[in-house]
Amino acid sequence: ERTRVAIIGAGPSGMLLAHLLAQRGVESVVLESRSEEYVASRIRAGILEQSTVDLLREAGLAGRLDREAQEHRGIYLQWPEERHHLDFVALTGRTVHVYGQTEVQKDLVAARTAAGQRVHYEIGDTALHDLESDHPSVTFTDRAGRARRVAAEVVVGCDGSFGPSRAAVPEAARRTWEKTYPYSWLGILADVAPSTDELIYAWHPDGFAMHSMRSSTVSRLYLQVPNGTDVDDWSDDRIWEALATRLGHGQDGWQLTPGPVTEKSVLPMRSFVQTPMRHGRLFLAGDAGHIVPPTGAKGLNLAVADVGLLAPALAAWLVDGDRRPAEAYAETALRRVWRCTHFSWWMTSMLHTSGDPFDAQLQLSQLRWVASSEAGATGLAENYAGLPIGF
Ligand code: FAD
Ligand code: DHB
Repeated sequence: ERTRVAIIGAGPSGMLLAHLLAQRGVESVVLESRSEEYVASRIRAGILEQSTVDLLREAGLAGRLDREAQEHRGIYLQWPEERHHLDFVALTGRTVHVYGQTEVQKDLVAARTAAGQRVHYEIGDTALHDLESDHPSVTFTDRAGRARRVAAEVVVGCDGSFGPSRAAVPEAARRTWEKTYPYSWLGILADVAPSTDELIYAWHPDGFAMHSMRSSTVSRLYLQVPNGTDVDDWSDDRIWEALATRLGHGQDGWQLTPGPVTEKSVLPMRSFVQTPMRHGRLFLAGDAGHIVPPTGAKGLNLAVADVGLLAPALAAWLVDGDRRPAEAYAETALRRVWRCTHFSWWMTSMLHTSGDPFDAQLQLSQLRWVASSEAGATGLAENYAGLPIGF
């Protein structure tokens, strides 16, 4: 099988890349190890920054988003006895939208299915070849166990944090930066109306807590827990009790309404960057190139930003013969990657307790400054609502 661009991974970055390339007249094949249903139902991100929404609108992918997503003008930052609203619209003129990654994925799959996109699901043994030549290829076994090869002009690794693309860059040609954190998140999805109009990020001596949502009837909440936590040690009652304490149930009459928990999992937290994001004819995009801890909701937005830059760069090369944007991709994309890596690390460090009382005082001082100074609040808002594509 032949194509112009072989895309490994049918998550949001792979499917969006296929869509943006097709709009520029570049055909592609997407290769995915999981089933279509599995990819569609993975519960992950929930917040789209302004630049992501703008890009989805320009790409004609925002019909349902514009009808169903909730637009938020800011977030609440809180610590015991105090809750402050940061108004991103007043500070930066930008907003965020609450729209789950599951919904983005459904919209992408619907658009690509309607356009006849070639996607191979449930493949095995994905391997990348001849990336330094002008005839790279990807081999795999299909659902029926047959050995297959896709020959392409360019290969893009959109295969997330565990895919093979990142490691296909020879060791001598790559460099990685990594940080692990001494805590994880316990996340729940619950069939209950959110107890807040906008997201609450809460610092608490027992650990960070957050109240997010997916719709007017579905809430998403997170608790900081120690690494290695077993979800089975956390009954629904224990989770709601910890959330009530950390989110300030009863404070100024505010109440957290519990409800049936429909999903529960522990997420590890990691910062990771691999450079360069291009090697020969292999390009990396999304989680294949970088991981951020979830605080600040950058992971999905950063994946979208990579692809928003890469699609026109590949089209310039493959349609117009201008290689310069593709050659600049790695460096241009990396500027935003490090910005988001810093912002996610900063939000994480400011809000999670380490057990060190000195650190706690610094965190509280930082939180007070961010919540009360226009300069502090604007810095958070600019990063949270998203810097323009190409920053
Ligand atoms: P992915 O969505 O990971 O897609 C990669 C795809 O490649 C997958 O479908 C995978 O099956 C496929 N693949 C892997 N290996 C192979 C192979 N060998 N061959 C073929 N295909 C392969 N971000 C936020 O902003 N907020 C959040 O709350 C949040 N929560 C998260 C919770 C979890 C549990 C995880 C894992 C991530 C979370 N993220 C969150 C991050 C966000 O979901 C990711 O940044 C986003 O999914 C990146 O998209 P992607 O397309 O680059 O990678
Ligand atoms: C969500 C996740 C985040 O990491 C975040 O900062 C905000 C919201 C969420 O899953 O809704």
